[in-house]
Amino acid sequence: MKSAIVVGATSGMGQSLAMKLAQEGYRVGIVGRRTERLNEMVRSNPEAFIPLTLDISREDAIRSLNTLVRDLGGLDLLVMAAAYGFPYNALDHDVTVDIISTNVRGFTMVVDWGLKLFLEQGSGQLVSFSSIAGMRGSGVDPAYCAAKAFQMNYLEGVRQVVDQHQKSIYITEIRPGFVEKNDSHVETRFWIDPLDKATQRIYQGIHENRKVVYLSKRWAFIAFLLSLVPKLWLEKLMQGYMQPDHAKPTMEPSPVRPPGK
Ligand SMILES: NC(=O)c1ccc[n+]([C@@H]2O[C@H](COP(=O)([O-])OP(=O)(O)OC[C@H]3O[C@@H](n4cnc5c(N)ncnc54)[C@H](OP(=O)(O)O)[C@@H]3O)[C@@H](O)[C@H]2O)c1
Repeated sequence: MKSAIVVGATSGMGQSLAMKLAQEGYRVGIVGRRTERLNEMVRSNPEAFIPLTLDISREDAIRSLNTLVRDLGGLDLLVMAAAYGFPYNALDHDVTVDIISTNVRGFTMVVDWGLKLFLEQGSGQLVSFSSIAGMRGSGVDPAYCAAKAFQMNYLEGVRQVVDQHQKSIYITEIRPGFVEKNDSHVETRFWIDPLDKATQRIYQGIHENRKVVYLSKRWAFIAFLLSLVPKLWLEKLMQGYMQPDHAKPTMEPSPVRPPGK
């Protein structure tokens, strides 16, 4: 029986992928901060899931992940789906630090840990979610987009490191556009991919050991355009997109739970 860990398994694509992996016969370690959601998943399939309540922005997260691998009896697939972010441009440093602590610090902690483990055992696959939002800067959510750019760049770099050592370790970057969310608070989204279709494409991309997976043709096309569009055009485009709701920084409290809270 193959084993997987999904970090960020309590909602969205991480949860949906964890369920798909369980259906496909994997034993899955499911990780997130909301214990009740993890327990619900275990109740739905006690044979398949092992829960771990964990905040990846915490220093001691690695010890708990090691214990989870031991309980699973090994690790073939590590999925890093956890992220923290929402449209926020009020330049409040505390919020920016919250975003960085999960999406940069927590992300690198999970990725480094997983790749070292795979290098030691000589095999494994890392799957990590970035975003098309990481391809350019955005005034709608500057910190989230910058963190996603970091993730994309980091994955590209560590792939080169791992390839030098071991050809049978795969790194698959999932690069979504907009995907249906169970608890969506964002009204400015468009071309939203249904969760089940996205999950199917992600699973297929993992199965084929793809390097980068887009979840639909139109988002792949948008990514291509974003890589070409000159800075001046992008700024004009974003000014249009930010009107009227996002033109001014919003000082409203976060609709999303920050790490550790
Ligand atoms: N949905 C989209 O439209 C979209 C678009 C582009 C990219 N993405 C990326 O795709 C991935 C999945 O997004 P999603 O929208 O499907 O997921 P989501 O519903 O936003 O769920 C995020 C998951 O991350 C977990 N999480 C957040 N902070 C954590 C922390 N500090 N420690 C441990 N777990 C943490 C959450 O669990 P707890 O709250 O229980 O901790 C939850 O399970 C993310 O990386 C996201 O940036 C999504």
